[in-house]
Amino acid sequence: MSTFSMHTHTCGELRASNIDEEVTLTGWVWHRRDHGGLIFIDLRDREGLTQVSFDPDIAGPEAFATAETVRTEWPIKVTGVVHSRPEGQANRTLATGEIEVYASQIEVLNTSRTPAFQIEDDQELSEDIRLRYRYLDLRRPTMMANMRLRSNFTFAIREALHKRDFTEVETPALFKSTPEGARDFIVPSRLQSGSFYALPQSPQLLKQLLMVGGVERYYQVAKCFRDEDLRADRQPEFTQVDIEMSFVEQDDVMGALEEVLADAFLSVGVQMPRPLRRLSYADAMETYGTDKPDTRYGMELVDVTKVFEQSGFKVFSAAANTDGQVVKCINAKGAGTWSRGKIDKLSKVAAEFGAKGLAWIAFRADGSVNSPIKKFLGDSEMDGLRAACNVEPGDLLLFAAGERIPTCEILGGMRCHMAKALELPLEGHDFLWVVDFPLVHWDDERKAYAAEHQPFTQPEEADLDRLESDPLSVGSHTYDFVMDGYEAGGGGMRVHNAELQMRILKLLGFTEEAAREQFGFLLEALEYGAPPMGGFALGLDRVCMLLAGADSIREVMAFPKTTNGNDLMSGAPSAVGDRALEEVSLRLL
Ligand code: AMO
Ligand code: AMP
Repeated sequence: MSTFSMHTHTCGELRASNIDEEVTLTGWVWHRRDHGGLIFIDLRDREGLTQVSFDPDIAGPEAFATAETVRTEWPIKVTGVVHSRPEGQANRTLATGEIEVYASQIEVLNTSRTPAFQIEDDQELSEDIRLRYRYLDLRRPTMMANMRLRSNFTFAIREALHKRDFTEVETPALFKSTPEGARDFIVPSRLQSGSFYALPQSPQLLKQLLMVGGVERYYQVAKCFRDEDLRADRQPEFTQVDIEMSFVEQDDVMGALEEVLADAFLSVGVQMPRPLRRLSYADAMETYGTDKPDTRYGMELVDVTKVFEQSGFKVFSAAANTDGQVVKCINAKGAGTWSRGKIDKLSKVAAEFGAKGLAWIAFRADGSVNSPIKKFLGDSEMDGLRAACNVEPGDLLLFAAGERIPTCEILGGMRCHMAKALELPLEGHDFLWVVDFPLVHWDDERKAYAAEHQPFTQPEEADLDRLESDPLSVGSHTYDFVMDGYEAGGGGMRVHNAELQMRILKLLGFTEEAAREQFGFLLEALEYGAPPMGGFALGLDRVCMLLAGADSIREVMAFPKTTNGNDLMSGAPSAVGDRALEEVSLRLL
C-alpha cells in the first residue's frame, strides 16, 4: 500500500535492514519508562510495537520535555533514526526487537484519559468493562488479531464464491417474518400505521425467490436477527455467509460447498479434508448423543441394553425390557480414580441434561470396583460390560437409562463434560457433515410438529406418502456443517413445488389461510416455474470464534451484546420519546 503522509512505516515493520534510516511513526503510547534522563516509549499501532527512545542529547530539550509529558494511550507522532539495540538488549520475541528509534521529534496528536483497564492481553478483565469501553478493548492485540482473522476469512470465502460464479445479492433487512425457529424482531412502520416489518431471521425466503428469479448461484454475507435466549455461541444479530444454488441436486450442493469452504479455510492456514466425512443424524445421536459431535476424542456411547435384560437393578432391567427405551453408557477413561464424592457430583451435571439419575461404576487402579449399584450387579453384567466397554483399571462408566433420544442426549452432554474435566487434548480442527435429519419433530410445548431445519426443506421423495400419516418417519434433504463440536452451518434442498409446500405448512399447524397470509408470496412464486434448488448458511461468527480459538462469538464481533441483549457502550436498547412512539402509532403498556 502506498504510505500515508503521516508516517513512513508501521510500528510492526522496522528491522535491522532499516538501521540508519530516518523514519516517522504514529501510534499510541503503550508503555513509557523513565530511566532518569532517558525515556523509552513502546509505540503501538495495529501492526505491532516499536521501542522509541528519547535521549535529550539527540532529541533536544524541547522534544525531550514533550516526551516527559506524554501518558499511556496518547496518540503521538515521532520522527527519528533507526538504531540497532545495544549489545545483549535485542528482544527476540518481538518482530521489531532488533532495533529502536532514537527520536528527534515528537508531536502529540491527542491526549487520553486514563483507560479503565490496561491495554494488555494477559489480563483478567470483566467482560462488562471490556464491552463498556469496547473501543479500548479492540486496541488489545488479541482483539485486533481476531478482527483481522475475521476479515481475512470473510474475504477468502467471498473470493472462493466469486471465483465460482456466485453473484452477491443484498436482500432487505426490513421484511416479513422468515421463520427459523426464533422470535422475530419487529419494526413499526410510520407510513403504514399499525403495520410492522420483521427483521429477517435469515434471508431464506428471499434467496429462494432469487432462485425463482434466475440468479442461479447466489451468496450474501448477511446479517440475521433472532430474538432468542443468548449464549456464548448466540447473539441477537449475527452474520451468515448465505448461499443458494438452483438446477442442482444435494450432492452438487454439498460438493460445491466443500470446495468453497476448503478454499476459504486454507487461506487462513487450516486444512479441511475433502471429501468431508458424513455422519447420519441417527448415527450421530446414537454414537455421540448430539447432532453436532466433536469427534477429536472418542468416549463414544455404548448401548448396553442387552447386558441388563435380566438385571437385578430394576431401573435398568425395566428400561431394557421396554420398547423404545435403552440403557447406555460412556467410558470416561482416567476418571475411575476420582473420589466417590467427586463422582457423585456428576449426577448434578447430568440432571442439567435432564437425567433422573446417573449410575456409575469406577474401576479402581488396584483392581477393586466401586459403584452405588454394585450390590445389584452379578458376574454376567460385569462380564458383559467389560466386553462391551473395553474396561481397564482407571475407567469410570457412566450410565443413563430411559427413552432412546433423551438418554443419548444426557450421555452426549456428559461426554462433553468429561472431556473438559479430563482435559482431553483437542488437536487441530474437526470437520464433518451431519446429514439426513428427520423432516419434523414433535414440539411438546406447542403441541404441534415443528420443522427440524426450517419449513421449506425438501422431504425425502420416497417418504412423501407418509407425510400426513407418519410425519416423524419422514426424512429430509438436509446437512449441517459441524466444526469442533459446534453447528457451524446448515442447509438443505428446498421444496420447489407449491402444493407440496402447502402440505408441509399444514403439517406444521398452519391453516391454508394462515399459510397464504404469511407465505402467500412464496407459494405464488413457486407456481411460476421455480427450479430445483438447495443451499446453505455458514455461521460466520461461530467459524471465526473456532479459528481464533476463542470461547465465545463475542470475541470475534466488534460490538456484541451481553446475554441480556444490551450494548453496554451505547446503552441500547433504550427508551424512546413519546413523540417517536406516537409517530409509529404506539403507546407503551
Ligand atoms: P440456521 O438457522 O441453521 O439455518 O443458521 C445457519 C447457521 O447460523 C449460525 N447461527 C447463529 N450464530 C450466532 N448467533 C445465532 N443466534 C445464530 N443462529 C444461527 C449457526 C447456524 O448453523 N436459512 C437457513 C440456512 C439454509 O437452510 O440455507 C438457516 O438460517 O452456525
Ligand atoms: P436408586 O435406586 O434410585 O438409589 O438409584 C441407584 C443409582 O442408579 C443411583 O446412582 C442413581 O443415580 C442411578 N439411577 C437411577 N435412575 C437412573 C436412570 N434412569 N439412569 C441412570 N442411572 C439411574
